[in-house]
Amino acid sequence: MIPIVTLIVGTSVRFVNDVAHARSGDFPEREINWTGTKNLGHIMPLSPARTAAFDILLRVDQQDAYAGELLHSYRMDALSPADRALTTELVMGVLRWRSRLDEAIGEASSRLLAKVDAEILTVLRLGAYQLRYLNRIPAHAAINESVELVKRAHKRSAVPFANAVLRKVAASKVDAPSGRFAASSADLLARESAHPEWLVARWVAEFGLQAAQAICSYDQRIPNVTVRLDAAEVEKELASEGINLAPGVLLASARIVTGGDVARTRALQEGGVFIQDEASQLVAALVGRGSRLLDCCAAPGGKTAALAARNPTAEIIAAELHSHRADLLRKRVRAANVQVIQADAVSPPTSGGFDRVLADVPCSGTGTLARNPEIKWRLKPADLVDLHAKQVAILRAALRQLVPGGRAVYSTCSLEREENEAVVKEALQGEHEWELLDCRVELEHLRSTGELVWDDLDSLLGGQFFRTLPGLQLCDGFFAALIRRR
Ligand SMILES: C[S@@+](CC[C@H](N)C(=O)[O-])C[C@H]1O[C@@H](n2cnc3c(N)ncnc32)[C@H](O)[C@@H]1O
Repeated sequence: MIPIVTLIVGTSVRFVNDVAHARSGDFPEREINWTGTKNLGHIMPLSPARTAAFDILLRVDQQDAYAGELLHSYRMDALSPADRALTTELVMGVLRWRSRLDEAIGEASSRLLAKVDAEILTVLRLGAYQLRYLNRIPAHAAINESVELVKRAHKRSAVPFANAVLRKVAASKVDAPSGRFAASSADLLARESAHPEWLVARWVAEFGLQAAQAICSYDQRIPNVTVRLDAAEVEKELASEGINLAPGVLLASARIVTGGDVARTRALQEGGVFIQDEASQLVAALVGRGSRLLDCCAAPGGKTAALAARNPTAEIIAAELHSHRADLLRKRVRAANVQVIQADAVSPPTSGGFDRVLADVPCSGTGTLARNPEIKWRLKPADLVDLHAKQVAILRAALRQLVPGGRAVYSTCSLEREENEAVVKEALQGEHEWELLDCRVELEHLRSTGELVWDDLDSLLGGQFFRTLPGLQLCDGFFAALIRRR
């Protein structure tokens, strides 16, 4: 059985993949009765966590919203800590195991799932998740609450159907999948671990079966919440707020949160601590030190903040395409040497002269599926083609911002070749002004200064590139290339 969540997990969406306390999610007014204590007359009182989970899952499904953002929206403040934890568990659990849940529902249903209304399917997934994956919720409670959710969604005529399906799911005794997958082919692995087959087939072809098994296993677990500490005293401050920390796996400045809700601490609100995956912290470390830095796809600012901490006297320009995200970036990163601008990285208003540039481009986010499981159900192979074109354009423009001798880091949190090696190859094709550097040299440097505490450098490299694979390292999957202007 999957353990009960004791932390608010998942660091929000691909766009805000590194920072866990996005507060920008919003809900339609009609959906706000999460406290659930009121009896609405014709329906029984509903548990606030299930109501909130239903609303969030429906928005994720119908409006392409991101679960992590909604789970950290201010609306969640109305819930008790226990209800927030249960909501998170329900939402993330349903999204992680969606294809397995659909399989169970399909077997129990007289109708094709494609013909079932989105609201009813969402209720059934929530119900099936509780029945199959949570051992602390009695079957009758899961079924009764599901029926009430159907009524709340104004789908009263579907009550007998939902009731019958969930009773069948409850009656069919199937063990919940274990957390470790050892299937011998891509299709079996995809089915067992609730991933789309096309994605798993790519990973098997690219990284081998064992690595693909490790990635799928990691994606199905609750990932660590990791923080970056700017100053040693912050650790004491967090301890005084009830946060337990353990040393990071990759970096000396990283800590893994082992107890407490760090997203709600004063230290985090005041900007002394940043929730950021270790691989993301390491990408920022690869940028190194300079006097003029450009971070050209900067929101929500996890890496900008790390660059500012490492380069306190440098001038740093942080650019972001979307105005609301540029605002978020301004709120998050308050270092005096950082100037936030709203700009398109493909045609930036800056006129060059940077000795360090970071292009942490928009990408598919397939290295972050443990945190953002909805991505695996949304992503289509064709998206990788579109992303590739956008990424090449951003990287080319970023390279032109460098002074001779200056260095750029190109990075993604994708595992896909089209977004990684192939982008770098295309951007550098026929160009003699830029040269690809070996990330090993920079990793060795970080190792020699004691910043990198991970010994096995080979496991962080794919040729000249930096690369982490979820499950091989206990962090998100990131890719980075280092490029120098001659
Ligand atoms: C992967 S996220 C960056 C994460 C960020 N570096 C961090 O560590 O917190 C990519 C960001 O680029 C922004 N973006 C997308 N297209 C862009 C463009 N053409 N120019 C500038 N920013 C862009 C997205 O809105 C998003 O905020």
